[in-house]
Amino acid sequence: MRRKVIAGNWKMNMLPNEAIDYIQAFEPLVKEADAEVVLCVPYTDLFYCLMNAQGTNIKIGAQNMNFKETGAYTGEISGSMLKSIGVEYVIIGHSERRQYYNETDESVNSKLKAAFANSLKPIVCVGETLEEREAGKTEERITSQTRLALNGLTPEQAKETIIAYEPIWAIGTGKTATSEDANNSIKAIREEVRKLYGEEVANEIIIQYGGSVKSSNAKELFSTSDIDGGLVGGASLKPDEFAKIVNWDKE
Ligand code: PGA
Repeated sequence: MRRKVIAGNWKMNMLPNEAIDYIQAFEPLVKEADAEVVLCVPYTDLFYCLMNAQGTNIKIGAQNMNFKETGAYTGEISGSMLKSIGVEYVIIGHSERRQYYNETDESVNSKLKAAFANSLKPIVCVGETLEEREAGKTEERITSQTRLALNGLTPEQAKETIIAYEPIWAIGTGKTATSEDANNSIKAIREEVRKLYGEEVANEIIIQYGGSVKSSNAKELFSTSDIDGGLVGGASLKPDEFAKIVNWDKE
């Protein structure tokens, strides 16, 4: 039985004082959660969040990292830097980074390897554009992104990877994939993992859905056979709304 992982992605929001207030309000609401609870926060909030989440069930993640360890890469943050302050998770290859910062399937793969080299848990994002969807290319796109992201990983690493299926047309738009659609896409990703790594890895790998997840649709999405939780943007910015999503099974 796979445990759900429900991760908030604050994107470029929240100053440290807001982040501290958030964690203080959020922590009592989610302390009985069945799901693994993760907050992926801006670099400047990481330390404050780690301090304030200490001793709680809230795990802290970054939203990006560089694949190099050290060197002349002005403005970049490495996996070892994240690890050194106690970060556990890192989002890799979010569609906004693929779209605005030229991340490719190859750089995503290098970052994934660097995350494992630093014992970080990666949440790798895949997802089709509206154009690809309308052209009937959803499955082709997401299985190829999955294959290229996992390229060269050991079965053990593949099993520890979290994949977030995020159809680009559903991110921040209020349009959610139907639970049936999202579940089918996630089944296709799981099937690809099965082809690459076999039954055990496919059965254990966590595959989330992301794209306009809210408290009003979380239950429908998360009760399907293959959706193992969510990566939540806008609705993770309010502690009580995000807590309802995390506690989707407790209503
Ligand atoms: P959204 O974002 O929930 O605001 O659609 C999801 C994401 O981009 O991870």
